[in-house]
Amino acid sequence: MIQEGGDDAEFRALMDKITRDSGFQCSSYKDKCLRRRIAVRIRARGASGCAEYAGMLDNDPREYERLIRSLTVNVTKFFRNWETYSAIDQKVVPALMEKGEREIRVWSAGCSSGEEPYSIGILMHKHSSANGGGGLESVSIVGTDIDTDCLGEAERAVYAESALGDTPADLRDQYFPQIAGLRTMLPEVRRLVTFEARDLLHFQPPFENAHLIVCRNVIIYLERAAQEALFAHFHQTLTPGGFLVLGKVETLLGDARGLFSPVNARERIFRKV
Ligand SMILES: C[S@@+](CC[C@H](N)C(=O)[O-])C[C@H]1O[C@@H](n2cnc3c(N)ncnc32)[C@H](O)[C@@H]1O
Repeated sequence: MIQEGGDDAEFRALMDKITRDSGFQCSSYKDKCLRRRIAVRIRARGASGCAEYAGMLDNDPREYERLIRSLTVNVTKFFRNWETYSAIDQKVVPALMEKGEREIRVWSAGCSSGEEPYSIGILMHKHSSANGGGGLESVSIVGTDIDTDCLGEAERAVYAESALGDTPADLRDQYFPQIAGLRTMLPEVRRLVTFEARDLLHFQPPFENAHLIVCRNVIIYLERAAQEALFAHFHQTLTPGGFLVLGKVETLLGDARGLFSPVNARERIFRKV
């Protein structure tokens, strides 16, 4: 049954086709996730299986967009898992901002519609304000994602109230002006963050010598070999002592365990050794 992938040869042929046509590297993603998500699209289109669905992709570019969107999983929110952001607030932001570096480079890898890099921007702005202002001119936060629709939303920076479900009330009131029932991002934070389309699996960082890489709830969808390759890539991209933050259910694997030391293991905050 196609629910979990259907005929294996047809499924493989569909994966190859998707990678060939769109550049989306199916082989790096966990098979089970791909099968589940493709099955949803096949059902939604009433196709009999992978082969018929492949034909639909050829005839309908919008279905291709829907499929890639569903394969990449864009769920996010501001301050997702507040405890993690609280630990970033206490351990990471002061370490970065009190260092007196000329530039503080932050990379949110797999940033979806921008909630993650803006959350980091808010913490940096808050730290600066609590310390007499200043320091923000050296902050550069880049959010990257494979999904250009999401990046468009990130640049617009207009959010539904539901995106703020994990946001403490004081931060919500201070940083998210309300316009017509929606929330926008305070311009002082917005200008700290830029966005770029990148496929993480092409291993091109938006800059060298990053001080902080936040890559949360992305590697969980990847096969182990791709996860390990990404950890090595992050290690190479970080400046010595630079921080890496993963998602709550993600952790370092294989050789990567020797490349980073835990800062707060529970919140998945590590430092390049
Ligand atoms: C579940 S969201 C996580 C968003 C945010 N990091 C968070 O934790 O709330 C996963 C994001 O990773 C992006 N993504 C998946 N594969 C990617 C790839 N190969 N390159 C870049 N971004 C990717 C998806 O488009 C999606 O926006």
